[in-house]
Amino acid sequence: MTSSVSSTHGSNEANEVDKHDKQKLWGGRFTGKIDPVMEKFNASIHYDKRMWKADIMGSKAYVKTIQKVGLVTEAEMNLILDGLEKISVEWSAEKFQLKEEDEDIHTANERRLKELIGPVGGKLHTGRSRNDQVATDMRLWLRDALDELKGNITSLLTVMIDRAREEIECLMPGYTHMQRAQPIRWSHWLLSYTWMLKRDLERLSGVMKRVNICPLGSGALAGNPFGVDRTQLAKDMYFSDVTGNSLDAVSDRDFVVEFLMWVTLISTHLSRWAEDLIIYSTKEFGFVTLSDAYSTGSSLMPQKKNSDSLELIRGKTGRVFGRTCGFVMTLKGIPSTYNKDLQEDKEAMFDVYDTLLSVLQVATGVMSTLQIHPDKMMGALSPDMLATDLAYYLVQKGIPFREAHGLSGQCVALAEKNGCQLPELTLQDLKTVSPLFDEDVSSVWNYENSVERYSVYGGTGKPSILKQIENLQSSLAQE
Ligand code: ARG
Repeated sequence: MTSSVSSTHGSNEANEVDKHDKQKLWGGRFTGKIDPVMEKFNASIHYDKRMWKADIMGSKAYVKTIQKVGLVTEAEMNLILDGLEKISVEWSAEKFQLKEEDEDIHTANERRLKELIGPVGGKLHTGRSRNDQVATDMRLWLRDALDELKGNITSLLTVMIDRAREEIECLMPGYTHMQRAQPIRWSHWLLSYTWMLKRDLERLSGVMKRVNICPLGSGALAGNPFGVDRTQLAKDMYFSDVTGNSLDAVSDRDFVVEFLMWVTLISTHLSRWAEDLIIYSTKEFGFVTLSDAYSTGSSLMPQKKNSDSLELIRGKTGRVFGRTCGFVMTLKGIPSTYNKDLQEDKEAMFDVYDTLLSVLQVATGVMSTLQIHPDKMMGALSPDMLATDLAYYLVQKGIPFREAHGLSGQCVALAEKNGCQLPELTLQDLKTVSPLFDEDVSSVWNYENSVERYSVYGGTGKPSILKQIENLQSSLAQE
């Protein structure tokens, strides 16, 4: 490696300029050849070609604006627009031929434009820099990506909400500290994740608002000296506003960071959801069975069915957070304004997008094919989980909660001492703890009654779950 680098340097004669280097956008000032290793190191074309559509959209809008201020004639504008359209056709047909000197998508498209229409293609870049161009392309690309993700989140939410409605009768243990705590409805558990995702959707709208701002017309850093109409540029590309400071516009990557952080949070939600289902799908719990379509077997142990889909959803969250941390670290020391470090933004953005898109699609698949076992869930409920309700029974008889909590605890201890379950204590046994216990205490020993007591909005009672569903659906309809 070292020798190949140094031998390349050895051939780097001061006035040796080959055609390839002259063709570079910044070729004029340079007399030496670029080190091939450096050339590769510097290039972003292999990943930023994904933004070809955005790049052409930006160029089409830009040439129209510079025509208005007389930098190109109408005929030249039309020539450029035709050339750009041809490039667009090549990209969509996967016929665009990359050349060695294509450093990034901007240089590649401009090189091709000049090949197609001649030197007049060089007028397109007047007053524009790759600095405002790349910021524009990324915002355009991300805007579409956010729309795609939004659609996928909505599909997942729809499956979750439908299941919550259909499987509302099913009861299961609710946990704190991974200990059985109180009976809840399965739908209540399911819906808890839909609220997280709904907030993620709300946050997405906030991110979108700040992504959809147009930086074009900021030039390399100082702005545009030709009086281009930035508002028109923004309108042509369906941006809702223009950036207010050119220095900020070319170096701001807040919108990328926000996106990465947003993905980190939604992935964290999905990771916790996956973790719950991994636990619920173990033989020890047996609450759910994952469809074969989303599981794999073991190469060694024939009996195994592994929840790889869910484990990958959980695992990919680490990858996403890593990308987020990595890019924030890249940003933290960059001086004003554009510096090449910023090129690191794209791989993070693309990778995190691809990851979340597949996570959402797999999660939706898992959710729509998951089998539940209500008998197993019900079987995991135990009468001690009704101890809180027993305390509330005494509260309703006028005993302060702190005291009732202690008395209910004494009942639990008594049952343990007698080697029986709480509901097996006789009324006489219970009366030794408190004279306020009466025949009606038998109504406490019913899981269905228990969950229905929690009918406050947001609770696990059926009416409250139906209300949750109604509210979720109406807020989804407004999104
Ligand atoms: N490929 C570059 C990037 O992604 C485009 C901007 C280059 N600007 C420059 N001044 N070298 O950041």
